[in-house]
Amino acid sequence: MKKKQSLLCCAVIAAAVLAAAPVRAQFAKAEDAVKYRQAVYTVMANHMGRLAAMAKGERPFDAAAAQASARVIETMSHLPWEAFPAGSTSKGLKAEPWADAADYKARADRLQGETAKLPAAAASLETLRPQLGATGAACKNCHDKYRNI
Ligand code: HEC
Repeated sequence: MKKKQSLLCCAVIAAAVLAAAPVRAQFAKAEDAVKYRQAVYTVMANHMGRLAAMAKGERPFDAAAAQASARVIETMSHLPWEAFPAGSTSKGLKAEPWADAADYKARADRLQGETAKLPAAAASLETLRPQLGATGAACKNCHDKYRNI
């Protein structure tokens, strides 16, 4: 009886592993990858919003706060790209990133190139404004093709 149970247990685990195989090892299920990338984008957008409020004069400029947000954005800009395993469709997608991985990576690289300059630029309003614009353009460059808004 005991032996039977442990065999059954192994079979269940093997089935679960097989079912998860198409998704990258970091995510047990496709929905986990979708949740992960949407959470990262949400945090990134929140901090872009904080910088935009300062750039537009809706909030007083604060260099320390601006640079802290810029560092969050830079870090976040490295995270979502592994979370697009083939088949992880969602309502948020206009096109499938895994169908043309090179094109998608080029758009992600452009964003990372801009976010790398953001923390230094956030030291003053004069340098923040143009760099925030360039970063926002890199978001749009990808969203136009891939994000279903
Ligand atoms: C290389 C492509 C790419 C770049 C660059 C990019 N995004 Fe996105 N973004 C996506 C895709 C694809 C989705 C849809 C993901 C999904 O819903 O599965 C998305 C979704 C989002 C969402 C919605 C998240 C949700 O909860 O549904 C926000 C907000 C967002 N992006 C903000 C940003 C901001 C801000 C930037 C720039 C700082 C940015 N994105 C740069 C591809 C990109």
